[in-house]
Amino acid sequence: MKILVIGSGGREHALCWKLHQSPRVTGLYCAPGNAGTEALGRNVPISITDIARLAQFARDEGIGLTVVGPDDALAAGIVDHFQSLGLRIFGPTREGARFESSKSYAKQFMERHGIPTAQFGEFTDSAEAQKYCQRMRYPLVIKADGLALGKGVMIAANPGEAAMAIYRIMEQRQFGAAGDRVVIEEFLQGEECSIHALVDGRSYALFPSAQDHKRALDGDRGLNTGGMGAYTPAPILTPELERQVREQVLDPFVRGLALDGLTFKGLLYPGLMITREGPKVLEFNCRFGDPETQPYMLRLKSDLVDVLEAVIDGRLADFPVEWSNDVSVCVVMASGGYPGDYEKGKVISGVEAAERYGTVFHAGTRWVDGRLVTSGGRVLGVTATGANVRAAREKAYAAVGQIQFEGAQYRQDIAARALRG
Ligand code: AMP
Ligand code: GLY
Repeated sequence: MKILVIGSGGREHALCWKLHQSPRVTGLYCAPGNAGTEALGRNVPISITDIARLAQFARDEGIGLTVVGPDDALAAGIVDHFQSLGLRIFGPTREGARFESSKSYAKQFMERHGIPTAQFGEFTDSAEAQKYCQRMRYPLVIKADGLALGKGVMIAANPGEAAMAIYRIMEQRQFGAAGDRVVIEEFLQGEECSIHALVDGRSYALFPSAQDHKRALDGDRGLNTGGMGAYTPAPILTPELERQVREQVLDPFVRGLALDGLTFKGLLYPGLMITREGPKVLEFNCRFGDPETQPYMLRLKSDLVDVLEAVIDGRLADFPVEWSNDVSVCVVMASGGYPGDYEKGKVISGVEAAERYGTVFHAGTRWVDGRLVTSGGRVLGVTATGANVRAAREKAYAAVGQIQFEGAQYRQDIAARALRG
Protein backbone atom coordinates (compact mmCIF):
# COMPACT_ATOMS: atom_id res chain seq x y z
CA MET A 1 0.00 0.00 0.00
CA LYS A 2 1.19 3.54 -0.75
CA ILE A 3 1.07 5.94 2.18
CA LEU A 4 1.06 9.73 2.32
CA VAL A 5 2.02 11.51 5.52
CA ILE A 6 1.02 15.18 5.86
CA GLY A 7 3.40 17.51 7.72
CA SER A 8 7.09 18.29 8.05
CA GLY A 9 8.13 17.97 11.68
CA GLY A 10 9.84 15.45 13.91
CA ARG A 11 6.45 13.84 14.47
CA GLU A 12 6.03 13.19 10.76
CA HIS A 13 9.57 11.84 10.37
CA ALA A 14 8.93 9.47 13.28
CA LEU A 15 5.62 8.32 11.70
CA CYS A 16 7.38 7.79 8.34
CA TRP A 17 10.22 5.91 10.08
CA LYS A 18 7.73 3.52 11.67
CA LEU A 19 5.57 3.15 8.54
CA HIS A 20 8.70 2.42 6.50
CA GLN A 21 9.23 -0.73 8.60
CA SER A 22 5.83 -2.14 7.69
CA PRO A 23 5.93 -4.95 5.12
CA ARG A 24 2.55 -3.64 3.94
CA VAL A 25 4.00 -0.33 2.74
CA THR A 26 5.13 -0.25 -0.88
CA GLY A 27 5.61 3.49 -1.23
CA LEU A 28 5.98 6.35 1.22
CA TYR A 29 5.30 10.03 0.49
CA CYS A 30 5.48 13.05 2.77
CA ALA A 31 3.97 16.48 2.05
CA PRO A 32 5.92 18.67 2.37
CA GLY A 33 8.37 16.62 4.50
CA ASN A 34 11.94 17.41 5.55
CA ALA A 35 15.44 16.04 4.93
CA GLY A 36 14.70 13.06 7.18
CA THR A 37 11.50 11.97 5.45
CA GLU A 38 13.23 12.36 2.08
CA ALA A 39 15.59 9.55 3.02
CA LEU A 40 12.62 7.20 3.56
CA GLY A 41 10.41 8.08 0.63
CA ARG A 42 9.50 10.97 -1.60
CA ASN A 43 8.82 14.50 -0.43
CA VAL A 44 5.90 16.16 -2.18
CA PRO A 45 6.04 19.98 -2.30
CA ILE A 46 2.39 20.68 -1.43
CA SER A 47 1.37 22.79 1.57
CA ILE A 48 -0.49 21.02 4.39
CA THR A 49 -3.53 23.24 3.97
CA ASP A 50 -3.75 22.96 0.17
CA ILE A 51 -6.31 20.23 0.64
CA ALA A 52 -7.55 20.09 -2.94
CA ARG A 53 -4.05 19.51 -4.34
CA LEU A 54 -3.20 16.96 -1.66
CA ALA A 55 -6.34 15.00 -2.51
CA GLN A 56 -5.56 15.25 -6.22
CA PHE A 57 -2.07 13.91 -5.55
CA ALA A 58 -3.45 11.04 -3.43
CA ARG A 59 -5.83 10.12 -6.26
CA ASP A 60 -3.27 10.35 -9.05
CA GLU A 61 -0.66 8.40 -7.11
CA GLY A 62 -3.06 5.70 -5.86
CA ILE A 63 -2.39 6.44 -2.19
CA GLY A 64 -4.10 3.81 -0.02
CA LEU A 65 -3.84 5.67 3.28
CA THR A 66 -3.11 9.27 4.26
CA VAL A 67 -1.95 10.10 7.78
CA VAL A 68 -2.36 13.67 9.00
CA GLY A 69 0.13 15.19 11.45
CA PRO A 70 -0.70 18.85 12.10
CA ASP A 71 -3.80 20.32 13.71
CA ASP A 72 -4.33 23.09 11.14
CA ALA A 73 -4.81 20.60 8.29
CA LEU A 74 -7.43 18.78 10.41
CA ALA A 75 -9.15 22.02 11.40
CA ALA A 76 -9.23 23.02 7.72
CA GLY A 77 -11.26 19.87 6.97
CA ILE A 78 -8.70 17.68 5.17
CA VAL A 79 -10.36 14.51 6.45
CA ASP A 80 -13.83 15.58 5.32
CA HIS A 81 -12.55 16.37 1.83
CA PHE A 82 -10.61 13.10 1.42
CA GLN A 83 -13.57 11.10 2.70
CA SER A 84 -15.94 12.82 0.28
CA LEU A 85 -13.71 11.55 -2.55
CA GLY A 86 -13.57 8.03 -1.12
CA LEU A 87 -9.91 8.38 -0.07
CA ARG A 88 -8.83 6.62 3.13
CA ILE A 89 -7.37 8.98 5.72
CA PHE A 90 -6.45 8.85 9.41
CA GLY A 91 -7.62 11.70 11.63
CA PRO A 92 -10.78 13.37 12.90
CA THR A 93 -13.10 15.38 10.66
CA ARG A 94 -13.31 19.14 10.99
CA GLU A 95 -16.07 18.70 13.57
CA GLY A 96 -14.01 16.18 15.56
CA ALA A 97 -10.98 18.48 15.44
CA ARG A 98 -13.00 21.20 17.18
CA PHE A 99 -11.92 19.71 20.51
CA GLU A 100 -8.55 21.29 19.69
CA SER A 101 -9.49 24.14 17.38
CA SER A 102 -11.91 25.72 19.88
CA LYS A 103 -11.04 25.76 23.56
CA SER A 104 -14.53 26.93 24.46
CA TYR A 105 -16.08 23.98 22.56
CA ALA A 106 -13.80 21.61 24.47
CA LYS A 107 -14.58 23.25 27.82
CA GLN A 108 -18.32 23.06 27.23
CA PHE A 109 -18.06 19.38 26.26
CA MET A 110 -16.09 18.68 29.45
CA GLU A 111 -18.61 20.56 31.56
CA ARG A 112 -21.51 18.67 29.96
CA HIS A 113 -19.93 15.28 30.54
CA GLY A 114 -18.32 15.79 33.93
CA ILE A 115 -14.68 15.66 32.78
CA PRO A 116 -12.47 17.40 35.38
CA THR A 117 -10.98 20.67 34.13
CA ALA A 118 -10.16 24.15 35.43
CA GLN A 119 -13.12 26.44 36.24
CA PHE A 120 -13.60 28.93 33.47
CA GLY A 121 -15.47 31.79 31.89
CA GLU A 122 -15.64 32.59 28.17
CA PHE A 123 -16.13 35.94 26.48
CA THR A 124 -16.54 37.42 23.03
CA ASP A 125 -16.59 40.95 24.45
CA SER A 126 -13.30 42.28 25.78
CA ALA A 127 -14.93 44.68 28.28
CA GLU A 128 -16.85 41.76 29.79
CA ALA A 129 -13.65 39.73 29.94
CA GLN A 130 -11.85 42.61 31.68
CA LYS A 131 -14.65 42.93 34.22
CA TYR A 132 -14.53 39.20 35.01
CA CYS A 133 -10.77 39.39 35.63
CA GLN A 134 -11.21 42.05 38.27
CA ARG A 135 -13.04 39.73 40.61
CA MET A 136 -10.96 36.57 40.16
CA ARG A 137 -8.11 35.05 42.17
CA TYR A 138 -4.58 35.13 40.69
CA PRO A 139 -2.69 33.76 38.86
CA LEU A 140 -5.28 33.49 36.13
CA VAL A 141 -4.92 31.84 32.72
CA ILE A 142 -6.07 33.71 29.60
CA LYS A 143 -6.45 31.69 26.39
CA ALA A 144 -7.26 32.62 22.82
CA ASP A 145 -10.10 30.30 21.81
CA GLY A 146 -8.66 29.13 18.47
CA LEU A 147 -5.42 27.62 17.19
CA ALA A 148 -2.39 29.81 17.91
CA LEU A 149 0.63 27.53 17.42
CA GLY A 150 0.65 26.76 21.14
CA LYS A 151 1.29 30.43 21.91
CA GLY A 152 -2.24 31.58 22.70
CA VAL A 153 -2.06 30.85 26.44
CA MET A 154 -0.97 33.56 28.85
CA ILE A 155 -0.58 33.30 32.58
CA ALA A 156 -1.44 36.55 34.37
CA ALA A 157 -0.01 37.19 37.85
CA ASN A 158 -2.29 40.17 38.55
CA PRO A 159 -5.21 42.13 37.06
CA GLY A 160 -2.81 44.38 35.10
CA GLU A 161 -1.26 41.43 33.30
CA ALA A 162 -4.71 39.93 32.67
CA ALA A 163 -5.87 43.20 31.11
CA MET A 164 -2.78 43.25 28.89
CA ALA A 165 -3.33 39.63 27.81
CA ILE A 166 -6.96 40.31 26.88
CA TYR A 167 -5.92 43.44 25.01
CA ARG A 168 -3.28 41.54 23.03
CA ILE A 169 -5.62 38.66 22.16
CA MET A 170 -8.89 40.54 21.51
CA GLU A 171 -7.90 44.09 20.49
CA GLN A 172 -4.44 43.76 18.93
CA ARG A 173 -5.54 40.38 17.55
CA GLN A 174 -2.10 38.90 17.97
CA PHE A 175 -3.48 35.48 17.00
CA GLY A 176 -5.96 36.75 14.41
CA ALA A 177 -9.43 35.18 14.44
CA ALA A 178 -8.28 32.73 17.15
CA GLY A 179 -8.83 35.68 19.50
CA ASP A 180 -12.49 36.35 18.62
CA ARG A 181 -13.25 34.65 21.89
CA VAL A 182 -11.21 34.18 25.09
CA VAL A 183 -11.39 31.47 27.69
CA ILE A 184 -10.30 32.59 31.14
CA GLU A 185 -9.58 29.90 33.66
CA GLU A 186 -8.30 29.17 37.13
CA PHE A 187 -4.58 28.41 37.38
CA LEU A 188 -3.94 24.76 38.17
CA GLN A 189 -0.96 23.72 40.23
CA GLY A 190 0.76 20.42 39.60
CA GLU A 191 2.86 18.46 37.17
CA GLU A 192 1.89 18.04 33.52
CA CYS A 193 1.46 14.72 31.79
CA SER A 194 0.63 13.86 28.17
CA ILE A 195 -1.94 11.22 27.43
CA HIS A 196 -2.34 9.71 23.98
CA ALA A 197 -5.27 7.51 23.12
CA LEU A 198 -6.46 6.15 19.81
CA VAL A 199 -10.21 6.59 19.53
CA ASP A 200 -12.27 4.74 16.91
CA GLY A 201 -15.55 6.43 17.77
CA ARG A 202 -16.65 3.83 20.31
CA SER A 203 -13.54 2.45 22.03
CA TYR A 204 -10.15 3.78 22.87
CA ALA A 205 -6.64 2.37 23.29
CA LEU A 206 -4.48 4.24 25.76
CA PHE A 207 -0.77 4.65 24.93
CA PRO A 208 1.86 4.31 27.65
CA SER A 209 2.40 7.52 29.63
CA ALA A 210 4.71 10.29 28.39
CA GLN A 211 5.89 13.69 29.49
CA ASP A 212 6.76 16.67 27.34
CA HIS A 213 9.07 19.56 28.33
CA LYS A 214 7.36 22.69 27.03
CA ARG A 215 9.63 25.41 28.39
CA ALA A 216 12.75 26.47 26.50
CA LEU A 217 15.23 26.23 29.38
CA ASP A 218 16.38 23.73 31.99
CA GLY A 219 14.32 23.54 35.16
CA ASP A 220 11.16 24.48 33.23
CA ARG A 221 12.23 28.09 32.90
CA GLY A 222 11.99 30.34 29.87
CA LEU A 223 9.30 30.66 27.25
CA ASN A 224 6.77 28.03 26.21
CA THR A 225 7.80 26.18 23.05
CA GLY A 226 6.29 23.46 20.88
CA GLY A 227 8.19 21.01 23.11
CA MET A 228 11.91 20.65 23.85
CA GLY A 229 11.93 16.93 24.56
CA ALA A 230 9.80 14.06 25.77
CA TYR A 231 10.11 10.62 27.24
CA THR A 232 8.01 7.55 27.80
CA PRO A 233 6.98 5.98 30.15
CA ALA A 234 6.62 8.82 32.66
CA PRO A 235 6.49 7.61 36.28
CA ILE A 236 4.12 10.45 37.17
CA LEU A 237 1.30 8.37 35.70
CA THR A 238 1.01 5.73 38.41
CA PRO A 239 -1.40 2.82 37.88
CA GLU A 240 -3.86 4.57 40.23
CA LEU A 241 -3.68 7.80 38.23
CA GLU A 242 -4.06 5.85 35.00
CA ARG A 243 -7.25 4.34 36.39
CA GLN A 244 -8.51 7.85 37.20
CA VAL A 245 -7.61 9.07 33.70
CA ARG A 246 -9.58 6.21 32.18
CA GLU A 247 -12.60 6.65 34.46
CA GLN A 248 -12.69 10.44 34.64
CA VAL A 249 -11.43 11.50 31.21
CA LEU A 250 -11.48 8.82 28.51
CA ASP A 251 -14.61 6.84 29.47
CA PRO A 252 -16.72 10.03 29.74
CA PHE A 253 -15.13 11.36 26.53
CA VAL A 254 -16.28 8.35 24.52
CA ARG A 255 -19.67 8.29 26.29
CA GLY A 256 -20.02 12.01 25.60
CA LEU A 257 -19.42 11.46 21.88
CA ALA A 258 -22.32 8.99 21.79
CA LEU A 259 -24.63 11.20 23.87
CA ASP A 260 -23.92 14.25 21.70
CA GLY A 261 -24.11 12.28 18.45
CA LEU A 262 -20.50 13.17 17.54
CA THR A 263 -17.94 11.16 15.61
CA PHE A 264 -14.29 11.16 16.54
CA LYS A 265 -11.80 8.82 14.92
CA GLY A 266 -8.14 9.51 15.36
CA LEU A 267 -5.73 10.32 18.09
CA LEU A 268 -6.91 12.13 21.20
CA TYR A 269 -4.14 13.76 23.19
CA PRO A 270 -5.38 15.37 26.36
CA GLY A 271 -2.87 17.61 28.12
CA LEU A 272 -3.33 16.95 31.82
CA MET A 273 -2.35 18.70 35.01
CA ILE A 274 -1.96 16.23 37.83
CA THR A 275 -3.33 18.28 40.73
CA ARG A 276 -3.83 17.37 44.37
CA GLU A 277 -7.46 16.64 43.54
CA GLY A 278 -6.49 14.31 40.68
CA PRO A 279 -6.02 14.73 36.94
CA LYS A 280 -7.57 17.76 35.23
CA VAL A 281 -7.68 18.36 31.48
CA LEU A 282 -5.84 21.51 30.33
CA GLU A 283 -6.72 20.98 26.69
CA PHE A 284 -7.54 18.38 24.11
CA ASN A 285 -5.31 17.91 21.09
CA CYS A 286 -6.68 15.84 18.24
CA ARG A 287 -3.45 14.57 16.70
CA PHE A 288 -0.17 12.93 17.60
CA GLY A 289 1.99 15.03 19.93
CA ASP A 290 5.30 16.43 18.84
CA PRO A 291 7.84 15.53 20.22
CA GLU A 292 6.02 12.71 22.08
CA THR A 293 5.49 10.73 18.86
CA GLN A 294 9.25 10.44 18.43
CA PRO A 295 9.93 8.42 21.61
CA TYR A 296 6.59 6.62 21.17
CA MET A 297 7.43 5.27 17.70
CA LEU A 298 10.63 3.68 19.05
CA ARG A 299 8.50 1.73 21.56
CA LEU A 300 5.61 0.74 19.29
CA LYS A 301 5.86 -2.94 18.37
CA SER A 302 2.65 -3.30 16.34
CA ASP A 303 2.59 -2.49 12.64
CA LEU A 304 1.49 1.16 12.47
CA VAL A 305 -0.56 0.57 9.30
CA ASP A 306 -2.57 -2.13 11.10
CA VAL A 307 -3.06 0.19 14.08
CA LEU A 308 -4.30 3.13 11.99
CA GLU A 309 -6.62 0.90 9.98
CA ALA A 310 -8.12 -0.56 13.16
CA VAL A 311 -9.09 2.99 14.13
CA ILE A 312 -10.52 3.91 10.74
CA ASP A 313 -12.54 0.66 10.56
CA GLY A 314 -13.75 0.86 14.18
CA ARG A 315 -11.99 -2.39 15.20
CA LEU A 316 -9.92 -1.06 18.12
CA ALA A 317 -11.76 -3.12 20.73
CA ASP A 318 -10.36 -6.31 19.14
CA PHE A 319 -6.94 -4.94 18.30
CA PRO A 320 -4.15 -5.20 20.88
CA VAL A 321 -1.63 -2.38 20.34
CA GLU A 322 1.77 -3.67 21.52
CA TRP A 323 4.61 -1.70 23.08
CA SER A 324 8.13 -2.58 24.15
CA ASN A 325 9.09 -2.22 27.80
CA ASP A 326 11.97 0.11 26.92
CA VAL A 327 12.29 3.65 28.13
CA SER A 328 12.56 6.09 25.25
CA VAL A 329 13.95 9.63 25.51
CA CYS A 330 13.88 12.39 22.88
CA VAL A 331 16.03 15.51 23.21
CA VAL A 332 15.08 18.31 20.83
CA MET A 333 17.95 20.32 19.34
CA ALA A 334 16.66 23.77 18.36
CA SER A 335 18.00 26.82 16.56
CA GLY A 336 19.59 29.50 18.74
CA GLY A 337 16.89 31.99 19.75
CA TYR A 338 13.92 29.60 19.42
CA PRO A 339 11.03 30.09 20.29
CA GLY A 340 11.85 33.72 19.42
CA ASP A 341 13.63 34.80 16.23
CA TYR A 342 16.35 32.54 14.90
CA GLU A 343 18.54 32.21 11.83
CA LYS A 344 18.20 29.41 9.31
CA GLY A 345 20.64 27.76 6.92
CA LYS A 346 23.21 26.61 9.50
CA VAL A 347 25.16 23.55 8.37
CA ILE A 348 24.45 20.46 10.50
CA SER A 349 27.18 17.85 11.04
CA GLY A 350 27.51 14.64 13.01
CA VAL A 351 24.09 13.09 12.37
CA GLU A 352 25.61 9.84 11.12
CA ALA A 353 27.89 9.56 14.15
CA ALA A 354 24.90 10.26 16.43
CA GLU A 355 23.00 7.37 14.88
CA ARG A 356 25.41 4.93 16.54
CA TYR A 357 23.61 5.82 19.78
CA GLY A 358 20.05 6.51 18.77
CA THR A 359 17.64 7.60 16.07
CA VAL A 360 17.82 11.16 14.81
CA PHE A 361 14.44 12.45 13.73
CA HIS A 362 14.52 15.54 11.57
CA ALA A 363 12.19 18.53 12.00
CA GLY A 364 13.50 21.83 10.58
CA THR A 365 16.10 20.46 8.16
CA ARG A 366 16.67 20.46 4.44
CA TRP A 367 19.34 19.72 1.87
CA VAL A 368 20.97 22.69 0.12
CA ASP A 369 23.74 21.98 -2.39
CA GLY A 370 24.45 18.59 -0.86
CA ARG A 371 24.64 19.97 2.68
CA LEU A 372 22.20 19.34 5.50
CA VAL A 373 21.10 22.72 6.92
CA THR A 374 18.68 24.04 9.52
CA SER A 375 15.34 25.36 8.27
CA GLY A 376 13.18 25.77 11.38
CA GLY A 377 13.03 26.37 15.13
CA ARG A 378 13.05 22.77 16.25
CA VAL A 379 15.75 21.14 14.12
CA LEU A 380 16.27 17.55 15.30
CA GLY A 381 14.68 15.14 17.79
CA VAL A 382 17.51 12.96 19.01
CA THR A 383 15.86 9.84 20.38
CA ALA A 384 17.18 6.73 22.07
CA THR A 385 15.89 3.76 24.02
CA GLY A 386 17.30 1.81 26.95
CA ALA A 387 16.28 -0.66 29.60
CA ASN A 388 15.84 2.19 32.09
CA VAL A 389 15.71 5.98 32.18
CA ARG A 390 19.41 6.34 32.95
CA ALA A 391 20.48 4.17 30.00
CA ALA A 392 18.08 5.84 27.55
CA ARG A 393 19.13 9.34 28.65
CA GLU A 394 22.82 8.50 28.38
CA LYS A 395 22.39 7.25 24.83
CA ALA A 396 20.24 10.21 23.79
CA TYR A 397 22.73 12.74 25.17
CA ALA A 398 25.71 10.80 23.73
CA ALA A 399 23.99 11.14 20.35
CA VAL A 400 23.31 14.84 20.90
CA GLY A 401 27.02 15.28 21.72
CA GLN A 402 27.94 14.13 18.20
CA ILE A 403 25.83 16.77 16.45
CA GLN A 404 26.90 20.31 15.72
CA PHE A 405 25.35 23.36 14.16
CA GLU A 406 25.93 27.01 14.96
CA GLY A 407 23.70 28.23 17.80
CA ALA A 408 22.33 24.77 18.65
CA GLN A 409 20.36 24.82 21.91
CA TYR A 410 18.87 21.96 23.85
CA ARG A 411 17.82 21.15 27.38
CA GLN A 412 20.16 19.11 29.55
CA ASP A 413 17.39 17.86 31.85
CA ILE A 414 15.04 15.90 29.60
CA ALA A 415 13.62 12.97 31.62
CA ALA A 416 15.75 13.99 34.63
CA ARG A 417 12.59 14.06 36.72
CA ALA A 418 12.05 10.36 36.00
CA LEU A 419 15.45 9.54 37.50
CA ARG A 420 14.22 10.74 40.85
CA GLY A 421 10.93 8.85 40.58
P1 AMP B 1 -2.84 24.60 26.54
O1 AMP B 1 -2.51 24.94 25.13
O2 AMP B 1 -4.23 24.96 26.94
O3 AMP B 1 -2.45 23.22 26.99
O4 AMP B 1 -1.85 25.50 27.40
C1 AMP B 1 -0.45 25.49 27.17
C2 AMP B 1 0.29 25.40 28.47
O5 AMP B 1 -0.14 26.44 29.36
C3 AMP B 1 0.02 24.11 29.21
O6 AMP B 1 0.84 23.07 28.77
C4 AMP B 1 0.30 24.54 30.64
O7 AMP B 1 1.70 24.54 30.88
C5 AMP B 1 -0.19 25.96 30.69
N1 AMP B 1 -1.60 26.01 31.16
C6 AMP B 1 -2.71 25.99 30.42
N2 AMP B 1 -3.82 26.05 31.18
C7 AMP B 1 -3.39 26.11 32.45
C8 AMP B 1 -4.06 26.20 33.72
N3 AMP B 1 -5.38 26.26 33.82
N4 AMP B 1 -3.29 26.23 34.82
C9 AMP B 1 -1.94 26.18 34.75
N5 AMP B 1 -1.27 26.13 33.58
C10 AMP B 1 -1.96 26.09 32.45
N1 GLY C 1 3.91 18.24 22.63
C1 GLY C 1 3.14 19.37 22.40
C2 GLY C 1 2.22 19.25 21.28
O1 GLY C 1 2.29 18.37 20.44
O2 GLY C 1 1.33 20.09 21.19
